[in-house]
Amino acid sequence: MRTKIEPFRIKVTEPLKIISREERIDALREAHNNVFLLDAEACVIDLLTDSGTGAMSTHQWAAIMLGDESYAGSTSWKKFEATVRDITGMEHIFPTHQGRAAEGILASTRLKPGDVIPNNSHFDTTRANIEFVGARAVNLLCPEGLDNTSEALFKGNMDLAQLEQCIAEHGAGRIPFCMLTVTNNTGGGQPVSMANIRAVKQLLDKHRIPLVLDACRFAENAYFIQLNESGYGDRSLLDIARDTFSYADGATMSLKKDGLVNIGGFLTCNDDAWAEDFRNALILREGFPTYGGLAGRDLEAAAVGLMEALDQEYQEYRHATVVYFAKGLDTIGAPYVRPVGGHAVFLDAKAMLPHLEPLQYPGIGIVNALYVEGGIRSVELGSVMFGSFDENGTEVPSPLELVRLAFPRRVYTQSHFDYVLEVIDEVWRKRERISGHRITYQPHFLRHFTCYFEAIS
Ligand SMILES: Cc1ncc(COP(=O)(O)O)c(C=O)c1O
Repeated sequence: MRTKIEPFRIKVTEPLKIISREERIDALREAHNNVFLLDAEACVIDLLTDSGTGAMSTHQWAAIMLGDESYAGSTSWKKFEATVRDITGMEHIFPTHQGRAAEGILASTRLKPGDVIPNNSHFDTTRANIEFVGARAVNLLCPEGLDNTSEALFKGNMDLAQLEQCIAEHGAGRIPFCMLTVTNNTGGGQPVSMANIRAVKQLLDKHRIPLVLDACRFAENAYFIQLNESGYGDRSLLDIARDTFSYADGATMSLKKDGLVNIGGFLTCNDDAWAEDFRNALILREGFPTYGGLAGRDLEAAAVGLMEALDQEYQEYRHATVVYFAKGLDTIGAPYVRPVGGHAVFLDAKAMLPHLEPLQYPGIGIVNALYVEGGIRSVELGSVMFGSFDENGTEVPSPLELVRLAFPRRVYTQSHFDYVLEVIDEVWRKRERISGHRITYQPHFLRHFTCYFEAIS
């Protein structure tokens, strides 16, 4: 059949409140034109993030009832541990309340000021945890990953020459571990090939530097490998995931992505000395090692969710949704980052609004227009989020002005996405009338979350 259907039917529904255009205009004004400050119920389709926003299956809800809330050694922990070990093959497994807690434990136990941690691209909490202990986080993404027009299939790959140069420049002694983020969140979940993972590991082995995966979207990455890398077409997603982890010495994971749960994370490693440090930090910050930062029922749901994320039908449907959406954008003619990644589509706001200067924040213009037009919540990834200030205090724009539409897992149907496309079409038609914005209030750090905007008339 040509139509790839959702491999589930809906048993519980959650009403969407569809407020009028006038109400949306008021809501946005009250939120100071910053969609982060909107109430969730004022959003018709919420594409702010794919993190923790997925829907659980009947099997996961049933597993929740089996939650064993014993403080130590619960049956829920044993199931969780067995599942994570089955996929990752790792010796030591530590449950955390979410991904950044795993990153915090890793960084605080292994790093010292002056250390350098390479990655294809650090996620912002990973970078913050590394920098918090005085180490440096460096991004060594392959050049195709930075090129919006490149159709390369594995745009999340690490640049091996830059990695070699980084090791030569800083010395292996200053690099306690190297990270690889699969898929690479920056750019909407661009995948990393198995060949690249293997080559990174081989290079690191020469210098005795351990490899730690940021494995939030390991199952989506496995699907891309199966789809596009020669030699993997006949392999199961579980097999490919096992291969992926076989090159790693440890991993951090936010279960809010490919764990298909609303909260949770884990940290794993093979080294006994690392594990000793992780265990002590876990007990101090999160909880006893057999529950860490989670309730027994959360461990149950995650154990089921991790395997559901590796289900072939599920990944095919998820990818088909993203591809379907991209085809819709092609029909409209709205520019976006190609090829689409695993969990999001990025509109190119700079190309959509060429009449605006970068410091008139074209991404905010598109984000706010999508909200007013159809109640869609998206997020700017441009000069507001990634801009900087030079030594004279002058604002320096980001090289890219993007708007991310992230896809929650198993939440929206094809007609929801048809609706989003209709709204984009409307915004695209009115693009010449979309105005720029100025910032009227901003905090010192992470300004995009709480700053206020005003439209420039
Ligand atoms: C690549 C990546 N790493 C780490 C994290 C942090 O995970 P959490 O939000 O569970 O702390 C995220 C969250 O979006 C992510 O996308």
